[in-house]
Amino acid sequence: MGIQITPSILTADFADLRAELARIPSADWVHVDVMDNHFVPNLTFGPTMVEALTNATPLPIDAHLMITDADRNAAAYVEAGARSVTFHVEAAAAPVRLAREIRKQGARASMALKPATPIDPYEDLLAELDMVLIMTVEPGFGGQTFLDLCLPKIRRARELMDKHGVETWLQVDGGVSLETIERCAEAGADVFVAGSAVFDAHDPDAMVAALREKVADARD
Ligand code: DX5
Ligand code: ZN
Repeated sequence: MGIQITPSILTADFADLRAELARIPSADWVHVDVMDNHFVPNLTFGPTMVEALTNATPLPIDAHLMITDADRNAAAYVEAGARSVTFHVEAAAAPVRLAREIRKQGARASMALKPATPIDPYEDLLAELDMVLIMTVEPGFGGQTFLDLCLPKIRRARELMDKHGVETWLQVDGGVSLETIERCAEAGADVFVAGSAVFDAHDPDAMVAALREKVADARD
């Protein structure tokens, strides 16, 4: 199981994103939080921005769609160049069909769960997914406090993935920092989104390395 560090640009300087992206060369992905002011009470980017970002960095884009009617809207993000597209299961009427469509279009298909959404009802969907995202804050804003109450769900998701022998990645997002990342790693996560921890750091790329190191230590 590899370790992937995925900085979220939500707390980066939106007026200078090309420069911000150049500050994280050793990241594995760039996490782009798409918010529609409906599924969450905040408004950020759309597909045009995702397309612009693909031209501003060699890193692959991991689009996290916090939008209603994911079934209808996800395709535009694959077309815009996102290599991984995450929809919220709470916003998808037909998650299996949606995951298949995303894969058919050529991107990795990922499904996100808010803190109060259990993983067990989706056990049989795991083979349809390239990644599961367990939110460790209520989605909508960067810089929130990590919710320890989500740790048992991370552990449970890892158990279910092992049981089914799937290669599905397990991503955590929200409040991930040097203080909390080891708990996520011990619970079984392998893809780590960090927004404010990376972009509020004096040296964001050094923070990416430090976070990676913490995960490696936790696994020893
Ligand atoms: C929250 C977003 C997260 C957020 C992470 O809704 O999905 O990706 O940007 O930011 P931090 O790491 O600051 O919690
Ligand atoms: Zn996110």
